[in-house]
Amino acid sequence: MLVNSSSRELKVALIGANGMLAQMVRERAPQGCSLHLFDLPEFDLADHDEVHEMLTKLVPDVIINCAAYTNVDGAETEQALAMEINGAAVGYLSKAALAVDATLVHISTDYVFDGKKVGAYSEADETCPVSVYGVSKLSGEQALVNTGLKKYFILRTSWLYGPGGSNFVETILRLAADRDELRIIHDQIGSPTYTGDLADAIFSLLSIEASPQSTAPDPHGVYHFANEGSCSWYEFACAIVEEGRSQKLPIKVREIYPINTSEYPLPATRPANSVFDKTKYKALTGQEVPLWRDSLHTYFCGREKSN
Ligand SMILES: NC(=O)c1ccc[n+]([C@@H]2O[C@H](COP(=O)([O-])OP(=O)(O)OC[C@H]3O[C@@H](n4cnc5c(N)ncnc54)[C@H](OP(=O)(O)O)[C@@H]3O)[C@@H](O)[C@H]2O)c1
Repeated sequence: MLVNSSSRELKVALIGANGMLAQMVRERAPQGCSLHLFDLPEFDLADHDEVHEMLTKLVPDVIINCAAYTNVDGAETEQALAMEINGAAVGYLSKAALAVDATLVHISTDYVFDGKKVGAYSEADETCPVSVYGVSKLSGEQALVNTGLKKYFILRTSWLYGPGGSNFVETILRLAADRDELRIIHDQIGSPTYTGDLADAIFSLLSIEASPQSTAPDPHGVYHFANEGSCSWYEFACAIVEEGRSQKLPIKVREIYPINTSEYPLPATRPANSVFDKTKYKALTGQEVPLWRDSLHTYFCGREKSN
C-alpha cells in the first residue's frame, strides 16, 4: 500500500496514460494510489501552460511520465517534434513538479549511450547518444535536472514490450505467422524488458521514497532497469518463436537467420551494446530482477489468457 506523508491516498498524475508502459502502470498500481490520467488529445505535454495549469490544479504527490515521442526512426526527420516532447516538455513537467512539491518519475532509455562500451552500462557512465531520439531523450533528462528538482527518479530502460503496444514481440509473431524465413540482427545486444517488471520497479522506488523506515540517505536520482540477462535481437526473436510454438500460435516460419546491422539499414543508428548494470536499483530496493527469458514466458501466459 502506498500512502503520502499525511497517510492519505497517494495522488498520482500518469502522463501518456494510454501508452504501452502506462497501461501496465495502471494495472500494477498498488492499493492506496489514486491515478489521474493524462494523454493526447485532451492533454498535450508539449503545451507549457496546459501542463502547469493541469498539475497545479490537481496537486499530485507523484507524476509518472510515460509519454514520449517513441518513433526512433521517425525522429531522424521529425527532429523538432521529438526534441519538444522528449526534451523541452520534460522540463515543463519538472517545473510543475517543483511548483506543487511532487516527485517526478521519468522514463528514459538505453539510447542515451553509444553502445561502444565493453560490459554493462552503469548510471555513472558517460552518455553519448547516436540518434536524434537518443539526443532528445538525453535532453529531457538534462531539462529535468536543470530545473533544480531534487525529488525525481529517472528510470532508463531498454527493449520494452508488453500488452497494448506495438513492440518487437508482436512484430516477430506477425512476421513468423506470415513468412517462411526471417533475418534478424545479431550484432546488437541488450536486455528485453517486460512492462510488468518495469511498472513494478517504478512502484518499488516510490515505496522506498515513502517508507518512514528508509535508511537510504537520498534515494532520488538516475536508475537503470531492464530484465536480467542479455541477448541479441536474433536470440530474442528465436525465443519469441519458441514461445509462440509452445502456445500453439500460428507460426509458419521455418528458418531464422542471424544478420549484421549493415544488412538491415535503418534511418536511426542503434547502440550495439545496450546492457545495463542494475546494481544501484537492486541495492536500493533489495529486489531481484526477473530474467528476460522468464518474463517473456510470463508475457506469453498473460497474452494467452487475454486472447
Ligand atoms: N518502447 C521501447 O522499446 C522503449 C525502450 C526504452 C525506453 N522507452 C521509453 O519508455 C517510455 C514508455 O514507452 P512506450 O513504449 O510505453 O511508449 P508509447 O506506447 O509510444 O506511449 C507513449 C504515450 O505518450 C503519448 N504522447 C505522445 N506525445 C504526447 C504529448 N505531446 N502529450 C501527451 N502524451 C503524449 C502517446 O500518445 P499517442 O500514441 O497519441 O502519440 C502515447 O500514449 C518512453 O519514455 C520511452 O521513451 C521505450
